[in-house]
Parts: sequence; C-alpha cells; structure tokens
Amino acid sequence: MASSMITFIILGLWTTIVVLSSASTIIGTKLSLELEAQALLESGWWSSYNNLISNRCNWPGISCNNDGSITDIYPPPNIVKVGVKFGKMNFSSFPNLVHLNLNDHGLNGSIPPEIVTLSKLKNLYLNWNYLTGELPSLENLSQLAELDFSHNEISGSISQELGNLKSLVLLRLSWNNLTRSIPSALGFLSNLTHLEMRSNQFYNYIPPEIGELKNLITLDLSNNKLVGLIPSTLGKLTNLTTLNLSNNKLVGSIPSTLRRLTMLTSLDISNNMPVGSISSTLSQLIFLETLNLSNNILKGPIPQKIGNLRALYSLDVSKNKLNGPIPFQIGYLRKLISLDLSKNQLNGSIPSQIGYLRRLISFNLSHNFISGEIPLPLRNLSHLDNWDLSYNKLSGIAPIFLTSFPDIHKNYIGHNCYKIYSKSLVGNKDLSPYTCSLITRRKRILNHLKIFLPLTVFPAFLIYGHLLFSRSNLKSNNGMQESKTGNLFSILNYDGRITYEDIIKVIEDFNTRYCIGIGGHGSVYKAELPSGKTVALKKLHRLNAEDPNFDKSFMNEIKFLSEVCHRNIVKLHGFCVHQRSMFLIYEYMERGSLRSVLTKDVEAIELDWSKRVDLIHGIAHALSYLHNDCSLPIVHRDLSSHNILINSNLEAFVADFGAARMLDLDSSNQTILAGTYGYVAPELANTTTITKKCDVYSFGVLALEVLMGRHPQELLSLFPSNSLLQNIMLNDILDPRLSPPTSHLDTQKIVLVATIAFACLPMEPKSRPTMKQVSHEFLCCQRSLAKPLGEISLLQLVASEMDVEKELCN
Ligand SMILES: *[C@@H]1O[C@H](CO)[C@@H](O)[C@H](O)[C@H]1NC(C)=O
Ligand SMILES: *[C@@H]1O[C@H](CO)[C@@H](O)[C@H](O)[C@H]1NC(C)=O
Ligand SMILES: *[C@@H]1O[C@H](CO)[C@@H](O)[C@H](O)[C@H]1NC(C)=O
Ligand SMILES: *[C@@H]1O[C@H](CO)[C@@H](O)[C@H](O)[C@H]1NC(C)=O
Ligand SMILES: *[C@@H]1O[C@H](CO)[C@@H](O)[C@H](O)[C@H]1NC(C)=O
Ligand SMILES: *[C@@H]1O[C@H](CO)[C@@H](O)[C@H](O)[C@H]1NC(C)=O
Ligand SMILES: *[C@@H]1O[C@H](CO)[C@@H](O)[C@H](O)[C@H]1NC(C)=O
Ligand SMILES: *[C@@H]1O[C@H](CO)[C@@H](O)[C@H](O)[C@H]1NC(C)=O
Ligand SMILES: *[C@@H]1O[C@H](CO)[C@@H](O)[C@H](O)[C@H]1NC(C)=O
Ligand SMILES: *[C@@H]1O[C@H](CO)[C@@H](O)[C@H](O)[C@H]1NC(C)=O
Ligand SMILES: *[C@@H]1O[C@H](CO)[C@@H](O)[C@H](O)[C@H]1NC(C)=O
Ligand SMILES: *[C@@H]1O[C@H](CO)[C@@H](O)[C@H](O)[C@H]1NC(C)=O
Repeated sequence: MASSMITFIILGLWTTIVVLSSASTIIGTKLSLELEAQALLESGWWSSYNNLISNRCNWPGISCNNDGSITDIYPPPNIVKVGVKFGKMNFSSFPNLVHLNLNDHGLNGSIPPEIVTLSKLKNLYLNWNYLTGELPSLENLSQLAELDFSHNEISGSISQELGNLKSLVLLRLSWNNLTRSIPSALGFLSNLTHLEMRSNQFYNYIPPEIGELKNLITLDLSNNKLVGLIPSTLGKLTNLTTLNLSNNKLVGSIPSTLRRLTMLTSLDISNNMPVGSISSTLSQLIFLETLNLSNNILKGPIPQKIGNLRALYSLDVSKNKLNGPIPFQIGYLRKLISLDLSKNQLNGSIPSQIGYLRRLISFNLSHNFISGEIPLPLRNLSHLDNWDLSYNKLSGIAPIFLTSFPDIHKNYIGHNCYKIYSKSLVGNKDLSPYTCSLITRRKRILNHLKIFLPLTVFPAFLIYGHLLFSRSNLKSNNGMQESKTGNLFSILNYDGRITYEDIIKVIEDFNTRYCIGIGGHGSVYKAELPSGKTVALKKLHRLNAEDPNFDKSFMNEIKFLSEVCHRNIVKLHGFCVHQRSMFLIYEYMERGSLRSVLTKDVEAIELDWSKRVDLIHGIAHALSYLHNDCSLPIVHRDLSSHNILINSNLEAFVADFGAARMLDLDSSNQTILAGTYGYVAPELANTTTITKKCDVYSFGVLALEVLMGRHPQELLSLFPSNSLLQNIMLNDILDPRLSPPTSHLDTQKIVLVATIAFACLPMEPKSRPTMKQVSHEFLCCQRSLAKPLGEISLLQLVASEMDVEKELCN
C-alpha cells in the first residue's frame, strides 16, 4: 500500500515535470518569435512594412518555417535596400535562419560577429558590397554549404578553421584584400565544387592539398601573388571544367598531370613564369574552349596535336619564346574566334589552312619570324575585325583580297591596282605594298603586269603521324630483295638490273644536289643509273608512328599501283624501305611539272595551243582510266598542275595518283587536306567523302589553267556570277603569251576544252560530268564554230548555249 502511494506520488511528479517542460518550450518559441519580430523592427530594413509585423513571413525577402520562425532573409535590393542599416540588425535573434542573402545591398563596415551564432545557416551571400575588416571565425557554422563574400574589401587572412566547414560546396572570396597563405586545411572540404579566390593578395605556395578536392568544378586562384610550382596534384581534380591560375608568379613547368583534367573547358595559366614547352599531352583536353598560356616563358614548338582541341574558340599563346612553324593542324580548330600567336619566335610560313578558320574575329601573328607569302585562303576570314601580321618576314605581292580587310588604307593607282597601307602589315620589309586585281578584259594589261598569283600548296602531311614502317613486320614477297644492309627493296616493273646500293651511290645518299623538287608527299631526286637510264626517286617523309597494319596494306597498294599502266600516267617502277627513308622509284620526266613549265615564259610559249589541247586530252584519258579501268577504281584526290609531269616531247603524265590513298589508309577523315588549295572541290569544305567527282572538279581547274597559262583563282571567285562572266570573252582569258589560235581546228578544240572545263566546275558534284564522259567527248566529238573566239563570252560557255553544233557520236 505504502509503496503504491509512493509510486503514485512519483508518477504525479513526473507528469508535472513533463507538462512544465513542454510549456517552457512553447513559451520559449513564443519568446523567440517575438525576438525575431523585434529584431526586424529595430533593424529598420522593412520600415515601410512595420505596422504589419504580424504578417512578417509574407514580407518581401522573408520566409518562415511552419512554426512561423524565420528561415530565409533575402531582401530584394530594388524593394528593400539595407545599406548603412546593416549594423542595426541583431543577427543573434534568428536561431532557425538557413539562408541569408544580402548581395548588392551597399553594406559597409565589418561583418557583424553575431553571424557566427547562426548555427543552422546553409547559404551566406554578402557579395558585391563594401564590407571591410577581417573575416569572423566561422568555425561553428557547420551546416554552411555556400559562402560568397566576393567583391568586398575584406582584409586579413583565412584561418585553418575554415577547413572545419565540411559541408561547403561553394566558397567565393574573389575580389577582396585577403592576404597570406591559402590554408592547406581547405583540402578537407571534400564536397567543394567551386573555389574562387581571384584578385586578392594571397602569396606563398598553392597548397598541394587542393588536389584532394575531388569534386571541384571551378578553381580560380588568378590575380594573386602566388609563387612556387603549379602543384602536380591538380591533376587529380578530374571534374574540373575551369582552371585559372593566371596573373601570379608561378614557376616550374606546366605539370603533365594536367592532361588528366579531361573535362576542362577553360585553362588559363597566362602571366606567370612557367618555363618548358607546351606538352602535346594537353591535346587530350578535348573539351577546351579557351586556352591562354600567354606571357610566360614557354619554349619549343606549338605541338601539332593542338589540332585535337576542336572545341577551342580562343587560343592565346602570345608573348612566349615559342619557335618552329605554326602547325597547319591549327586549321582543324574550326570554332576559333580568337587566335593570338604574337610575340614569339615562330618561323616558317602562314599555313594556308588558317583559311579554314572562318569564324576568326581576331588574329594576331605579329612579332614573329613568319616568312613566305600571305596565303590566298586567308581571304575566307570574312569576320576578321582585328588582325595583325606586322613585324614578320612576310614577302611577295600583297593579295588583292586584303583590300577588303578592316584597317586597310588603299590608294587606287590605275590598272586595277592599289597601293595599300596598314598597321597590320608594317615591319615586313619584303612584302610589296602594291596589289592588283587580275580580272581584266584587256590582255594588254595582263601582259604589262605579268603578275602571277602566288599559290600555296598544302604541305605533304599525310605521312606524318600515322605510319611507321617497321621492318620486322615485312614478309619477303616475290620480286622483293633484301639488300646487304638489310633494306627492303623491290623493283617491280623494271627490266634493268639495279640494286638499292646503286641508287644510293648515284645520288650520294640523297645529296640535295640531286634534289629536283618537292613533290606531293616528299622530295624528288634525279638518279642517273649506271645503265644510262634516268629515274626519279620520291623520298617520302620519315615515318614516325606505328601502325602494324600499315606494312601489309602499303605493300598491297604499291603492288596495285605498279600494275597501273597508261600512256599518260607516270610509271611506278618500284620502291625501297630503309630504316631512315622510304622511297618510290618512278619514270623520270625531263620537263618537270606542268606548273613549272607554265611559269617559265620560254617553255610556256613552246607549249603551243595544239600541244596544250593534247595535253588536256591526255590528262582526261588518264583520269578516266584511273576511275574506270583499273581493277579497283582509283581517285587521284590531289590533281593539280604540280603533279602533272611533262616529258621532253611536252606530253603530260599524271603523277602521284593514289599516293594519298596509299599513305592515308586509315584516315579517310583527313582527306580534305590531301588536295592542293585552289583545286579542291567545294563540297570538301563540309564533307569528307572523296569521290571521283572531286577529281572532275580539279580537272576543270587544271584545264582552265592550261588555257590561261596561270591558275584561274580570280575567275573561280567570280563563278558562277553570270553578270561578271558575261563581260569576259574567252579570248581575254587565254594565255597572253601565245598569239591567238590561227587554225580553225585549234580554235574549235579550245572552245570544247573550255566548255568542258566549265562543265566540270559546278558546286554540286552531281552536275559535273564523269571523267569517262569527258574523255569520250574529247575522243569523238567534232564541233563547228559559228562565232569567232572574241565573241564567245564565258557566260555562254558556262551555260553551254554557244552556237556550236555538236555532232552526235556514233
Ligand atoms: C540581440 O538579441 C539577443 C537575443 O536574441 C539578445 O540577448 C541581445 O541582447 C540582443 N542584442 C542587442 C544589441 O539588442
Ligand atoms: C557606412 O557608410 C556611411 C555612409 O557612407 C558612413 O556614414 C558610415 O560611417 C559607414 N559605416 C561604417 C561602419 O564604415
Ligand atoms: C563555437 O562553439 C563552441 C561551443 O559552443 C564555443 O565554445 C566557441 O566559442 C564557438 N566559437 C565561436 C567562434 O563562436
Ligand atoms: C557531402 O556530399 C554528400 C553527397 O551530397 C553528402 O551525402 C554528405 O553529407 C556531404 N558531406 C558533408 C560533410 O556535408
Ligand atoms: C589591401 O591590403 C594592403 C596590405 O595588405 C593595403 O596596403 C591596401 O591598402 C589594401 N587595399 C584596400 C583596398 O583595402
Ligand atoms: C564528378 O562528377 C560526376 C558527375 O557529375 C559525379 O558523379 C562524381 O561524383 C564527381 N566527382 C568525382 C570525384 O568524380
Ligand atoms: C582568369 O583570370 C584572369 C584574372 O583574374 C581574368 O582576366 C581572365 O579572364 C580569366 N580567364 C578566363 C579564361 O576566364
Ligand atoms: C590571356 O591572358 C592575358 C594575360 O592574363 C590577357 O591579357 C589576354 O587578354 C588573355 N587572352 C585572351 C584571348 O583572353
Ligand atoms: C598583336 O599583338 C601585339 C603583341 O602581342 C600587340 O602589340 C598588338 O597590339 C596586337 N595587335 C592587335 C591588332 O591587337
Ligand atoms: C625555324 O627555326 C628553327 C630554329 O628555331 C630552325 O631550326 C628552322 O630551320 C627554322 N625554319 C625555317 C623555315 O626558317
Ligand atoms: C571518321 O569520322 C566519323 C565520325 O566523326 C567516324 O565515325 C569514323 O569512324 C571516322 N573514320 C575514320 C577512318 O577515322
Ligand atoms: C556545304 O555548306 C554550304 C553552306 O553551309 C551548303 O550550301 C552546301 O550545300 C553544303 N554542301 C554540301 C555538299 O553539303
């Protein structure tokens, strides 16, 4: 009984205690809500709403939880401007505050210390104000995920305690006056995705612990006074898309580990002092959109693999000590808007492939050692706003298209010629300031000017990069001998006895004395064999990449090509593979290339109308044969006047056919660059499929070139503008070095060649004839002429509406 009494009393006490304690919670909540209300009123921030304090959860920029306690304070600056009232808010009155955003409120003074009591705070934005003083100790804000104090005037240093804020995802302290070291404890903030400390006064080293922030997406430490090496641990930040270390005093080399940052879209290390070269492994950063390495001490070449960075729209490697040539692979970067290679020691010529960068707005090559002529494809850079080729070693005649470039001053001096001046061209002492438009109906002017447009040939690049001829993989094949020195050598179609050693001996191990030119894919040497026979050796560039499949395919191709036999095709006699070199052995052609014959006045005159027409016929038959009559169809791919060779009887021979195919077995996607500029069919600007119709286009260009005595570049640029073509007579474009054709037959043939040449040039491949049709036309069709040559306009030829009667073939 007594014990039950005691139990009752205890139970009763217990109940009382429970009731009392819950009442104190309710009273506490009420009190706390009142304190919140009081703090809001006293702050004066919402002064125009003060009579509605009970409705505070609906004031602009305030949110509450279900109990009516304030969780969010984010006054919209256009409605509630905090400004100098910042200090009036009692921040310790908001125990449930999660989100505080006073971005751009004109705050001044220092950060109120009560902020550190807001233990539930997750987002704290005080950016874009005028806050001064030092950072308060934030160690108890353990929930903080987003902290943005950027764009203030906060000074002092960051303490290691910041490393306790393990929930931080975003830390922005840019544009302040913070100093001393970046604490290594930041490496503990493993959830951090954005770390932005730009434009402060941090000095000392970048702590390698930053490499532990595996989730980082943005790392911006730019514009400080950081010293020492770029930590190689940054290579661990594989989610990084933006890395900006620019404007510091970093030294050493750019760590090769950066190649692992494959998500990077922006890399800026400019304005530091790193040395060493630009590693070609950076080419693995295939999503890079901006790359800025300017104003450093980088040496060595610009890696060719830069061509892999196809997403780049801004590339700046200016103000370094880079040397060597500009890799033509820059032409692959079709998205480039801004390209700055200025103030380096780059040499060689401007790659014509720069003409592919049609989006370029800004292009700076100034202060280098670039030589050669300004390539014609640069005319395609129609968006240029800012260009600079000054202070180089450019030479030759300024191309006419420059007159349409911005920042060009021109004075007309008659005869379609201008004298031009531009800041962007100064400092190139061998560059002629005169330029002329060559389209003129007057032969006299043409004769008078004697200007031939410079033409730029794409470098023979096909061999670079993918092929290494490794001897061990080669199986001995019939007809192939292994020489004493262990070189493979094969003469497939040659009757005389000849060895590798014989050949090497006569050309004194490729002494440049025997070099007769640079051909499609390598240098060409002339070798007079002991038998009295002369052959041409085409030495291919050294191969430097390994491809086990290549050897076999190469052999097959050689064998296949050596079986090609046509009276207008240069004969391939054999080949040789050597550890140091690889060459093909061809029939020798005394007069060299058609291009060289046409540029020399004496030889061009020797090549009279009837020989020229025969020559064009020969080329057409050879192409028709390659396309249709071989065991596998062969597309030449690179037809131009450089690889039509001429023998002592002034007959034409197609050379280098299939070379592209042979050397390009695995890269059909690069074939667009296999052609020679000025002959490449227009569809190759946006497709990569090489077809026979590409050869047809090149043939059309070539045929016109033979008639005109020079490349029809300017004419093609008018094509197919009818009004311009209407005013040009066939007579006016014929090579002015020859007198007009006198024989009626020659005249007829010329008209036929011109008609067919224009028929080969439509933009649309389907509208071009096949080579078989062309060859057939030349073989069988006679045309009688109703008009004299001087009365046939190019438009008539293009439209094929001339009064020529075509007799049907049987
Ligand atoms: C701020 O509010 C807290 C309670 O939330 C109170 O203790 C403190 O005295 C207040 N400070 C000022 C300056 O009013
Ligand atoms: C903030 O700015 C106002 C007006 O410029 C000035 O009167 C006030 O003293 C400043 N407060 C602090 C803490 O600097
Ligand atoms: C953080 O909280 C602890 C424990 O409540 C306290 O001792 C310490 O003073 C607080 N630190 C700051 C900077 O307010
Ligand atoms: C870090 O992020 C993960 C995933 O979002 C989360 O589960 C974890 O709690 C976070 N860590 C801290 C300390 O907040
Ligand atoms: C920034 O800090 C430096 C000293 O570290 C001081 O000389 C300078 O005046 C400060 N600048 C501003 C804008 O506060
Ligand atoms: C990187 O990003 C991916 C996808 O956003 C995410 O799944 C991953 O957790 C992040 N962190 C690391 C270290 O890969
Ligand atoms: C990197 O930072 C510098 C200076 O802070 C800035 O000027 C530059 O635009 C940034 N680079 C990129 C690519 O955003
Ligand atoms: C590259 O960085 C330098 C120095 O930081 C800057 O002057 C230049 O404008 C940047 N280049 C581009 C294209 O932004
Ligand atoms: C090209 O770069 C040079 C040196 O880097 C600079 O002086 C020049 O102003 C730049 N040209 C243009 C047009 O921006
Ligand atoms: C370019 O310069 C390098 C040395 O920097 C030199 O070896 C090379 O021959 C030069 N090339 C040309 C085309 O001047
Ligand atoms: C060419 O590119 C296409 C698409 O970009 C790709 O599917 C194809 O495999 C590539 N061909 C070669 C030979 O690389
Ligand atoms: C190539 O692009 C141009 C314009 O972008 C277009 O007119 C033409 O039809 C395209 N040609 C082919 C073969 O796709």
